[in-house]
Amino acid sequence: MNLGTKTLLAIFSTSFRTPVRFYYNNIRIMQTVTLSQTNDSMPTIGLGTWQLQAPSNVIEPTVLKALELGYRHIDTAFNYNNEEAIGAAVNEWINSGKGSRKDLFITTKLPHVGNRASDVRKFVELQLTKLNMDYIDLYLIHVPFAFVCDPEALTPVVNSDGDYLLDVTTNHCEIWKVMEECQREGLIRNLGLSNFNEDQIKKIMDKASVLPQVLQVELHASFQQQQLRKFCAVNNIVVTAYAPLGSPGAKDHFVNKYKYSPDAFPDILGLPIVQEIADKHGKTPAQVLLHFLVKQDIVAIPKSTSEHRLKENMEIYDFELSEEDMNRLKKLDKGEDGRIFNFLFWKGVEKHPEYPFKLPPQVIKE
Ligand SMILES: NC(=O)c1ccc[n+]([C@@H]2O[C@H](COP(=O)([O-])OP(=O)(O)OC[C@H]3O[C@@H](n4cnc5c(N)ncnc54)[C@H](OP(=O)(O)O)[C@@H]3O)[C@@H](O)[C@H]2O)c1
Repeated sequence: MNLGTKTLLAIFSTSFRTPVRFYYNNIRIMQTVTLSQTNDSMPTIGLGTWQLQAPSNVIEPTVLKALELGYRHIDTAFNYNNEEAIGAAVNEWINSGKGSRKDLFITTKLPHVGNRASDVRKFVELQLTKLNMDYIDLYLIHVPFAFVCDPEALTPVVNSDGDYLLDVTTNHCEIWKVMEECQREGLIRNLGLSNFNEDQIKKIMDKASVLPQVLQVELHASFQQQQLRKFCAVNNIVVTAYAPLGSPGAKDHFVNKYKYSPDAFPDILGLPIVQEIADKHGKTPAQVLLHFLVKQDIVAIPKSTSEHRLKENMEIYDFELSEEDMNRLKKLDKGEDGRIFNFLFWKGVEKHPEYPFKLPPQVIKE
């Protein structure tokens, strides 16, 4: 990503993990972190796009609106089924002369059905075609486990009893090697992981020529991932927080589609402490929750289709949470009990040898 456009002025240093701040008309609109291998700048706020699915007449205007507002980082995945529409919006924005591909940071992910060395290149090339782009800024292995792939639909094969057919031959180091090859050929700029645990990351690091640059995991006030973040800091891995607002959209989805208990979802936007801190600063709960993450050098990728909320989620750099505010928010951490995304909706997934989470007993029993 090239942030050297005329309207943007870099103010602070560019060393790794030091946020770089950019101003437009004297308004601070973007901060970035620098990735250690390529020195690429990754904006600390990106547009999440899970549940931004068909119809494309919602996706394209949302992405275009986000770009107009100043978003330069978009997070998608093969599994979100929206790469084509996102690519169309991005290309429309570029063709209209408002910016260039180099101004953007696009993340996408290798799906669970492609988690084998022999499939990596096929998916990278397919995803580039869908996005209608020459390269991906950041390519993540979406999840550490794998399912057998239906070759026509490119979806998991599901047994008659509803269990997902596991591919237990998963070898992360072999997958990583092919990702490195794709990087050397210029198809991908940076490599990373998502939903991996510390042991799984270490095993890849032991064998890798290129170390993981980014780890994307669930992270919000109720689930702060303290230990994993320490590990990443020591190893120069940037952490991206998914579900940074506690994923209110996941609740309806998981309750309706997968029959999760509605009680399993923390309403962090509605917590009185968060509201109180927001009122004190004249900001909204969402802005407080996002600022809380970014202030700790965490990248956040909130999703919204509302223009008002897209704007709100970007305007998080013009106030400062005090040490006391930060400490109060840190106390909201419920540890493993705060996790929303355990992936048990893919029936039988916990039996995969690379299932990454140690779940509390009450969750396993469900
Ligand atoms: N790697 C992974 O396995 C993984 C898993 C999950 C998510 N992700 C990524 O992370 C992104 C973010 O996670 P997420 O979408 O689950 O959750 P999220 O960003 O925490 O929450 C999104 C939800 O919050 C609402 N919202 C957005 N801004 C708001 C605001 N300012 N005030 C009140 N409500 C607001 C949105 O509704 P409206 O759209 O109506 O505004 C939407 O329902 C995803 O979109 C995806 O890109 C990755």
